[in-house]
Amino acid sequence: MTLLQVQDLCVTLNTAHGPQEVISHINFSMDAGEKLGSVGESGCGKSITALALMSLLPLDSQTKGKIILEGQDILKLNSRKICSIRGNRIGMIFQEPMTALNPVKQIGAQVSESIYLHLKLTRKQTLERVTELMDKVGLPVSRFGLNLYPHQLSGGQRQRVMIAMAIACNPDILIADEPTTALDVTVQEQILDLIRELADSSGMALIMISHDLGVIAQTTQNVMVMYTGNIVEMGSTMDVFQNMSHPYTYGLFSAIPHVGSSALPGRKRLSSIPGQVPELHLRPRGCNFADRCSRASKMCKAKEPMATRVSDQHQVWCYHPLSCEDKK
Ligand SMILES: Nc1ncnc2c1ncn2[C@@H]1O[C@H](COP(=O)(O)OP(=O)(O)OP(=O)(O)O)[C@@H](O)[C@H]1O
Ligand SMILES: [Mg+2]
Repeated sequence: MTLLQVQDLCVTLNTAHGPQEVISHINFSMDAGEKLGSVGESGCGKSITALALMSLLPLDSQTKGKIILEGQDILKLNSRKICSIRGNRIGMIFQEPMTALNPVKQIGAQVSESIYLHLKLTRKQTLERVTELMDKVGLPVSRFGLNLYPHQLSGGQRQRVMIAMAIACNPDILIADEPTTALDVTVQEQILDLIRELADSSGMALIMISHDLGVIAQTTQNVMVMYTGNIVEMGSTMDVFQNMSHPYTYGLFSAIPHVGSSALPGRKRLSSIPGQVPELHLRPRGCNFADRCSRASKMCKAKEPMATRVSDQHQVWCYHPLSCEDKK
């Protein structure tokens, strides 16, 4: 059953160069319990899309389109109704745990806040729920007191507190925005395992935002690849990985280092995508990737590409998608 439908979502933010459309005409949908990945280089609009779903965009931003959660367009709701959805039906693990947590509030109080607000439990029941959550995220209260402050925890432990807050009210959708960026590799794996386990055991839908294609491959059923505020390729994760069609997706994949392929003597150099993501006010006409793409033609620079079907469950927004031969 369709849980979430995002239709023609556009977000304009005020920037140093005036109002700029940061994400443009985003369309996707999710079923209950589905795991969807969002991948792309820094600045391509992954977090802004997530913040739009949480109705947490800056007050002076403009949002167009629809975000339909079980038949209800949340962009049309008043702030009181939005508060009843945020943290309750949609939970989010933010990109930076140190800035997302309140540094002067004990972790127990931070985790209990949304429980108290949304579930209307008594003090005793709230304490029981917090204790249960802390157990679930691997911070049992017998070892980690609820009276600790964020600065008394390691990065991984702080991220666990964020996860407890995000899942406190059993949301229908959990958004994990780069949940492991600031962590070392072993802790990264533990946190990802925890998120996957929690999503599986509770049937929550998951939006996993990551730069890391490995994380997306391990975690998600469907994936959208974003570039400069647009979706450039989308489909089932297996289809997209087996048959990457957008030169940008292929560039991201080729940039992953493989054992033995690094710049050791006699080995090939690591490949990278030439150029940089254009700044918001310098985005070109037509396909935004054209300036960095070896396959670009005149048409790419003149007109934005429409969606082309690669297979039943796979679409690409490119005039010159890659074929199998191109990737040999
Ligand atoms: N509050 C803001 N005001 C103005 N511009 C913003 C604001 N927040 C983000 N942007 C701009 O919006 C664009 C998309 O940013 P976003 O944070 O969604 O990127 P991202 O894909 O999440 O990147 P990263 O992988 O680095 O987290 C960027 O160009 C960024 O500079
Ligand atoms: Mg981000």
